[in-house]
Amino acid sequence: MLLIGQAGFEKLLAGEVTAGGGVVRRQGPGWVLAEQVPAEVAFAHVTVTGGVELAGDKVNALAQQIADYFMQSLQGERIEAPWPCVFAGPAEMVGLGRRIGAVEEAFLALLKKRFSRVAKLATPDLPRGVAATRGLLVWFTDFGRVLVARELATNGQRRMADDDLAPSRSYLKVEEAYIVLGREPVAGETVVDLGAAPGGWSYSAAKRGAHVIAVDNGPLKGGALNHPRIEHRMEDAFNFQPSFAKASEGTTHAGMGCDWLFCDMVEEPHHVLKHIVEPWLSRGWCRRFVVNLKFGRVDPIALLRELRAPDSVLQRHAPGVCIRHLYHDREEFTLAGEVTVR
Ligand SMILES: C[S@@+](CC[C@H](N)C(=O)[O-])C[C@H]1O[C@@H](n2cnc3c(N)ncnc32)[C@H](O)[C@@H]1O
Repeated sequence: MLLIGQAGFEKLLAGEVTAGGGVVRRQGPGWVLAEQVPAEVAFAHVTVTGGVELAGDKVNALAQQIADYFMQSLQGERIEAPWPCVFAGPAEMVGLGRRIGAVEEAFLALLKKRFSRVAKLATPDLPRGVAATRGLLVWFTDFGRVLVARELATNGQRRMADDDLAPSRSYLKVEEAYIVLGREPVAGETVVDLGAAPGGWSYSAAKRGAHVIAVDNGPLKGGALNHPRIEHRMEDAFNFQPSFAKASEGTTHAGMGCDWLFCDMVEEPHHVLKHIVEPWLSRGWCRRFVVNLKFGRVDPIALLRELRAPDSVLQRHAPGVCIRHLYHDREEFTLAGEVTVR
């Protein structure tokens, strides 16, 4: 199985696979080849199964091998809809992009000759969101070496488009988290954003028509500043008591809180889990959440183990939670989930 994540995080990707009982065979920038891979891998953006390794120094020879593999694997399969045909590799390898483009072009020309309709339906993008698809993924581990497979599973991570009014790069993370979760704030919903400044996440929700309480002692900027649907509270997020907290005091009744909890603070992750995630989820103060945990000062693999433990706050109150190292994450995980109504 080939797992592809963010370049520079392959050691953590391999560490997570190993900690989950998998066996790592090889790794390179942003990818790991492994067996007995655990069902959930936060560092993997794409998982590819059942492939072969092909090698060839010349563009046309390599393209021919890929075409042979693909056409043989079709075996009566009918392709009637657009299908992902993705040629990729570590972006850090200088000149590799040109090589990839050349092999892809040669492959498509060969495919067009034999199966013109199938070639026309090929799309160069991975499916959006969390999905398992049959297509073609050609991953370059080197200039003349590729891993090729037809079964791909995407974990939802992807590069997001920026917005000129977004006051921070962090905006991209919450936008990406919506794709992973398969949901985003909608008009009329309520959001509490803890550690909101300069306001990227608040702006992202407000521009969709949600009403946001942005909690941070720092100033809001850009599109979040003076936004009519963003109320800025200069308070400590750990002491912030939403008005609905009073109403639900002494109960564990879910549904009295806000629609979304956002939390993106540069704080020790266990502190955030204990003093934000635990009370907000256990008291039903939010229906959904996007929480970012910085792992710079803790062991990320140990943190993942804790998050996945059956008695963890996440598994108890949001069992389907998505734990991801996003495309836009650095030394951090993003958790996106729905709180189970009890
Ligand atoms: C990474 S930034 C948040 C960026 C934000 N999500 C955005 O999209 O612009 C972290 C913020 O957390 C805030 N913060 C840290 N500790 C806090 C606390 N105890 N209470 C409120 N805000 C806090 C900081 O002031 C800082 O503005």
